[in-house]
Amino acid sequence: MHSNSGDREQRPDCIVFSNASVKRGERLIWQHGDFSIPAGSVTAIVGTNGTGKTTMMKTELGLLPLAGGTVHVLGRPAGEMNRQIGYVPQSYTSDIDSNLTAEQSVLLGLTGTRFGVHFVTKAQRAKVKEAMTFTGIADKAHYRLSELSGGLRQRVAIAQALVCDPKLLMLDEPLANLDLASQRAVVHVLARLNKELGMTIQVVAHDLNMLLPILTGAVYLLDGHPHYAAMNDVLDSKLLTHLYGTKVQVVTTPQGDMFVTPTPDEADDVVPDTHDTSEVAQFHHHEYHERKGRAQ
Ligand SMILES: Nc1ncnc2c1ncn2[C@@H]1O[C@H](COP(=O)(O)OP(=O)(O)OP(=O)(O)O)[C@@H](O)[C@H]1O
Ligand SMILES: [Mg+2]
Repeated sequence: MHSNSGDREQRPDCIVFSNASVKRGERLIWQHGDFSIPAGSVTAIVGTNGTGKTTMMKTELGLLPLAGGTVHVLGRPAGEMNRQIGYVPQSYTSDIDSNLTAEQSVLLGLTGTRFGVHFVTKAQRAKVKEAMTFTGIADKAHYRLSELSGGLRQRVAIAQALVCDPKLLMLDEPLANLDLASQRAVVHVLARLNKELGMTIQVVAHDLNMLLPILTGAVYLLDGHPHYAAMNDVLDSKLLTHLYGTKVQVVTTPQGDMFVTPTPDEADDVVPDTHDTSEVAQFHHHEYHERKGRAQ
């Protein structure tokens, strides 16, 4: 596989930011991006609206120039390895031509143009079927996108990004506007892509809860800087304060997964299990180490 810097990590780095900054027009969107994301990881990109999450993905694809520093992806400067990257843009499912069938739109991931649909090889058709089977939509091949639910359309979009066998899959808000069951289905697909195929995954998300079981780290866009933290450090109290304010609510499932939600303002009648962010960070560290211990 590609190799890179790699003394610190057992795995080669997939994405490396070195003092990277980006402008749109005259405005600096973020700066001092300095981190490495290992291959085989599942990373969330988190931040409030307009902080530059989509900008970050476009930078990694070489679609936006850097104002300073460097970004390397799969061992090369951003933009050079795009053939090995699958990308599901934000709101893609509502933008794509909904007269296409699911199969035709997955095929676009191979041909890159809808005019290629007349010259489909057997091998291409097999690849399309494989990607649709993986995402659980093989039986929807001949449905038009307009006939599919948002959740199924999102899986079509993922199949389209997958069909060229990428090493890195980038999804911009793939869970937006999906109901819980559809969100779970998408997360399940991502989990399998990561575990079974070893794909490196990057996901923009506003709510980490759904992704927590599969995340290995997160990039937080705060104060005009991207901060990367591996998962055992993610629930650092300072970051939690930034993300959720001073109090957060903690829910621990029987499996030991911890979920974090902002404390609802209006909860007068019940006493929620709320904690200061520093306490929550402590809980998480205990939980993490206990779980690690148990797994051995
Ligand atoms: N084409 C553009 N030209 C100039 N500025 C832009 C352009 N697109 C976005 N911006 C600005 O860049 C900043 C970052 O936008 P970006 O879309 O990356 O944010 P985001 O974190 O993905 O937001 P959202 O959560 O709304 O998707 C925003 O302030 C936005 O106004
Ligand atoms: Mg965005």
